[in-house]
Amino acid sequence: MKFTPEQVFKLEAKYHSQVFGRFPVALVKGKGPYVWDASGKKYLDFFAGIAVVSLGHCHPKVVSALKKQAETLWHVSNWYYTQPQAELAELLCKLTGMEKVFFTNDGTESTECAIKLARKASGKKEIIAFKNSFHGRTMGALSLTWAEKYRKPFEPLVPGMKFVDYNNLSALEQALTSETAAVIVGPIQGEAGVLVPDPGYLKGVRELTEKKGVLMIMDECQTGFGRTGDMFAFKGEGIMPDMICLAKALGNGFPIGATLFRGFDFERGQHGGTFLGGPLACAVAKATVETIVKEKLHLNARKQGAYLMKEVSGLGLKCRGKGLMVGLETTDGRKTIEKLIKEGVLTVPSGNTVRLLPPLNIGRKHVDEFINHLAKII
Ligand SMILES: Cc1ncc(COP(=O)(O)O)c(C=O)c1O
Repeated sequence: MKFTPEQVFKLEAKYHSQVFGRFPVALVKGKGPYVWDASGKKYLDFFAGIAVVSLGHCHPKVVSALKKQAETLWHVSNWYYTQPQAELAELLCKLTGMEKVFFTNDGTESTECAIKLARKASGKKEIIAFKNSFHGRTMGALSLTWAEKYRKPFEPLVPGMKFVDYNNLSALEQALTSETAAVIVGPIQGEAGVLVPDPGYLKGVRELTEKKGVLMIMDECQTGFGRTGDMFAFKGEGIMPDMICLAKALGNGFPIGATLFRGFDFERGQHGGTFLGGPLACAVAKATVETIVKEKLHLNARKQGAYLMKEVSGLGLKCRGKGLMVGLETTDGRKTIEKLIKEGVLTVPSGNTVRLLPPLNIGRKHVDEFINHLAKII
């Protein structure tokens, strides 16, 4: 029996934690940059699971990789070797220039891994993050996440974490001490409303950390795999961090993340997890990454992103961003998003910034479609 949206809302309200502030839409299927709700209404998906579904929904290469692996081997644990895991590790190291990978289930776990490894590798405890940063919600990652509303109810958090002003090199220089293990930085602050630092800032962070012998962790959970118009934002900046955190687009919706690093490693048994780097996740991620690379989707993100921002500005609206990571300024974020939902468009909230994070393989016609809808509600 197929449920109506109202039946889904009712079941959820009765049995699921009410922790999520959901929009009143119950989705049932997706294809490319579109999703459909339980009443049959079609939406243009500029939400893409928060910058996750970069190849669009149910991409044939990803579906086929999942089906093939599902009929072969699902799960064995990290007590055994599997080819999908070893192959994905090689692919990610070659693509990023890093030496080793530790697989995780999502972005917050990639941060957790980076925290542990930074402390272990440096023998120091302090980690510096930036005001307005978002690195996840488990206790370690949350300790590096800025927003009070996420942190306050769960204190005390992990000690040794410090926040400094983003996009301000002298503030960082003053904050670095002989006890600093690492600096963790997002190349664009997505959750805070797509805040793009000045040109040269990230290079400055790299130079400062290198000079002081401090590890630089680049959180590319959201920006990685072409989103900003470069395959990875750090590549576009011409720098090499010591660690990078990945997640989101890596599995095109199948849960998987990764922390990559160079120059050090864990010792046997120091970190782990039952599901990490399982065959299903790794097979899907390999197909996803290979497709993003083969189709040069970072270049399409650059092209369509520039067109999107030009057209948004043409409507007299302000926006900022890089590639297909775009923040649209409004005076009433949530209301704008609700109006867009009525129009049949999904976008991501962030205060009064409406974030536009579509699949990276959209064409000009999808941007035009979005702009037509936007023009109707402003
Ligand atoms: C930059 C960044 N780091 C970490 C995370 C946490 O990732 P996840 O929600 O997969 O745990 C996010 C999620 O939005 C993110 O944007």
